[in-house]
Amino acid sequence: MKGYVVLISVVAALGGLLFGFDTAVISGTINFIQPYFGLSETGLGWTVSSLLFGCIGGVFLAGKVGDHYGRKKVLMMAALLFFVSSVGSATAHVLIFFLIARILGGLAVGVASILSPMYIAELAPAKYRGTLVSLNQLAIVIGILVAFFSNYLLVGTGENNWRWMLLVMAAPAILLFFSLFMVPESPRWLVARGRTDEALQVLIKTSGKESARLELAEIELTLTKHEDSTFRDLLAPKIRPLLNIGIILAVFQQITGINTIMYYAPKIFANVGQSNDSALMQTILIGGTNLIFTLVALVLIDRFGRKLLIQIGSLGMMLMLAGLSALFFTNHTSGVLVLIFILGYIAFFAASLGPALWVVAAELFPNRLRSKGMSVAIVSLWIACTIVTIVFPIMLEKLSGGITFLIFALICLANLLYVLKYVPETKGKTLEELEKQFASL
Ligand code: BGC
Repeated sequence: MKGYVVLISVVAALGGLLFGFDTAVISGTINFIQPYFGLSETGLGWTVSSLLFGCIGGVFLAGKVGDHYGRKKVLMMAALLFFVSSVGSATAHVLIFFLIARILGGLAVGVASILSPMYIAELAPAKYRGTLVSLNQLAIVIGILVAFFSNYLLVGTGENNWRWMLLVMAAPAILLFFSLFMVPESPRWLVARGRTDEALQVLIKTSGKESARLELAEIELTLTKHEDSTFRDLLAPKIRPLLNIGIILAVFQQITGINTIMYYAPKIFANVGQSNDSALMQTILIGGTNLIFTLVALVLIDRFGRKLLIQIGSLGMMLMLAGLSALFFTNHTSGVLVLIFILGYIAFFAASLGPALWVVAAELFPNRLRSKGMSVAIVSLWIACTIVTIVFPIMLEKLSGGITFLIFALICLANLLYVLKYVPETKGKTLEELEKQFASL
């Protein structure tokens, strides 16, 4: 039973792997696509961010069609989009084709960023749900690492190197598409479509015979109304507070600065006068730390709970950023301490807010509104991600490293206080128990 659920989660997490790969692969191609397409700095900025615009569209698409066609079919569609995007961008000879291909990839990233964690949450037994949904974050992190490594290995393959880098993604896309044939549809979605017999069969396989009937009855209770939900339903007085928590936590996951490091580490190291040769070494250290501490989260998230984990993580992130800021203020940026604080910061993020945000976002909303609620929360994440990515280099230049990292440290503190006061603990309970608990708040 456990093996079956793990297999399903691993298949769904391939969506996370493609998400990580697709957002990271572009960094290695920049130096080659810029001259090839004759891009100015602004043009390059638009080309790189075209994926993020696609993401925003994809998230809304997932919220709508995910309810209509089911989690599994729409994930298959995302797999096809990843494939088309990969082949399309790798073979593009004119900029417009390249941009369209990247936007299609963004659509797929947006869809996968919602449906993979949501699908796992809807299939996982309550006891292991945190760990299983966190597999998706693990896959994102692995995807980022694979992109960095494959870019590094392919850089010497001649003038078409960037095409090969982009084409690599076609392989996991095909794998995701075909492996989805092996997994069942989400039982919660099946019940919502009135397909209770099929839902029961799935629940027997994932939770065992005894629990399955009970769980089915609970799910049916939450889905008595058969009318389709709309985005407007999210504004109902009982749902609104959950929506706020989803949005605010998603925004905090980004404005506490993770992608300033993930996307700009070489720039930060250059800023403190370290050479470019160590870029690969830094990437490996950052990616490796991210991977190891995501594994730590996998072990802890169902024991400590999401809330405690995020609190410890935010505190640690704040201290590391404050340390980094102090180094900049006192001009002590040449030593190894910069690297230690950066790796410490990554470690605390990876063991807490990284996976926990995705887990909580997939758990907060009632069955009837999960895909729509989650899509609004995650759209906020992508918008926040885009803004931080654009603003960070300007902050670093205009405000100095000291003030910039102090601001991010204070945002970590704000996150800590917010979670302490507003975020409910969701570990161990079924999605239906949570739904009841939240409805009575
Ligand atoms: C975040 C991404 C980030 C990644 C790093 C994810 O949870 O949403 O923005 O790049 O973690 O590991």
